[in-house]
This record gives sequence, C-alpha cells and structure tokens, in this order.
Amino acid sequence: MGLSPMKELLLEAQKGRYAVGAFNCNNMEIVQAIVAAADIEKSPVIIQASQGAIKYAGIDYITGLTKLAAESVKVPVALHLDHGTSFEQCIDCIRSGFSSVMIDGSKHNLEDNIALTLRVIEIARLFGVSVEGELGKIGGTEDDIVVSEREAFFTDPIDAERFCSETGVDALAVAIGTAHGLYKGVPKLDFDRLKEIKKRVSTPLVLHGSSGVPGEAIREAISHGVAKVNIDTNIREAFTEAARKVVIENPKEIDPRKMLGPAREAAIEVIREKIRIFGSNGKA
Ligand code: 13P
Repeated sequence: MGLSPMKELLLEAQKGRYAVGAFNCNNMEIVQAIVAAADIEKSPVIIQASQGAIKYAGIDYITGLTKLAAESVKVPVALHLDHGTSFEQCIDCIRSGFSSVMIDGSKHNLEDNIALTLRVIEIARLFGVSVEGELGKIGGTEDDIVVSEREAFFTDPIDAERFCSETGVDALAVAIGTAHGLYKGVPKLDFDRLKEIKKRVSTPLVLHGSSGVPGEAIREAISHGVAKVNIDTNIREAFTEAARKVVIENPKEIDPRKMLGPAREAAIEVIREKIRIFGSNGKA
C-alpha cells in the first residue's frame, strides 16, 4: 500500500475507541521495526519524523524508506512530521511526500497559533495531507525542542474549542501532564481537563510524551478521546540497550549489522507491546 492520510486512520480509531501509535524514526532499522510490528499485530500505524530526525537522515531518505516500508505490508501506514515549528518545514514535508504534518504553533499566542495553523492547512488540503495542531505547551525535550517545567502549560478547554472550530485541524495535541523524554516519577495526567476538552471538541486528540506513562493511564486517555499516542523515548531505550549489550559482550565486534540487527528486534518488541496497549491490534 502507498502512504495513507493520517486523518482517516484517526477517524477509524475514534469510532473503534482505540488509538493509533505514532512511532518516531531516525534510521532504516527503526522504520523497518515500526512496519514489522504493525504488520505482525495487524494494526494501522503512523511513522513520524521530527525535525532532528529529518536533519540526521535527510528528508528524502525518510520519505523513501517509509514509502518502501509501507509498500511491503498490507496494513495502512501514514508518514507524519512531528513538531514542525514553521510553515516552511511543513511545506518541505508535503513536497517530499509526507501524508501528514504537525504544525506546532504552541509558542505563539492563540490568535497567531490559529493563523499559522490555517496557513499550513490551506496548502495541506490541496494535497490531501492531514494536519495536527498543538494547544497548550508540552514539557520536556523532543530533539531540538526543549520546554522547561516552568514554560509548560496545560491546554485550556475553551481555547481548544475555538482552535478546532476556527482551524478545522484533523488532530489536536493536548497538554494534560505528559512530557517528552524520561520521567523522574510516574506522570499524573489531568483527566478532568481531558474530559472537558472532549466535551467541547470532536477532533481526535493526541497524547505526546507517552513513553513511561502506565498502560492504564494511556487506556483511560483513549477512553476520553485520545486517538493518537506518540512514542519515541521507549524505542530509543530498547534500540540502544540492545546495541550496547552486543558491544559490551563482544568488544571486538566490528560488524554494524550485529549491533543494529538485535536493536531492530528489540524495537519491534516494544512497538508490538505499545500497539496492544493502544488496542489497535487486529484493526487493519
Ligand atoms: P516520548 O519521547 O516521551 O515518547 O514522546 C514522544 C513524542 O511525544 C513525540 O512527539
């Protein structure tokens, strides 16, 4: 199959009360692991690339690898830009063949965020590309984007209603207590806020910073309107730990395949586990 529009995957998920996993990639092995896991679990899946991943691998490599991967399986695969912060980045991704982009205007005030999101949507619609917006500010570190605890703030449900009705975004990232990267303790999510957002907004919601969030909390978030769950850190951990184990146990090993092969296997396992938590297994 070619790349699928993310919007359709999320609307199906909303109807079926499950969420689609959006897994961050940086290289060929991770792209392969994401589609392999989705294929085994018979699940729709979103491969996402951050600005850092695009800088590292090259935009056309990411698109090329993902298109090939999508064509090798029967399950639907979307390719999404994670945390695009400018109009130009989103356009570059649309031009390169992404099926979805995120325009993260959360550093702007509400009016400017709406205006920026609308500019991206206007172009994206012409190419059938889906758009995710963000309201509130998610804390932590996602590649080049660092938001301290002091800067982070939760999504206001009233603003969310206005943002969604004025922009018509296909997905809305909400800040309800998760953060990108490793958690120091167990994160506490503001479910009352999420319920209030869900009451006012019919747009599929997105949970960022989901690595390290307990399965029950993720499931509860899904029951309150979350249809896309982003995972990066847990894949990095599994991938790097497996590669590191090979290097430690065989310090003379010089074949990269001997490190990256087990790393890819470890990534497949963690992604399969997440897919089952999100309830998207068997949905494709
Ligand atoms: P984690 O690294 O915490 O899984 O967050 C990923 C994410 O939200 C990407 O946008």
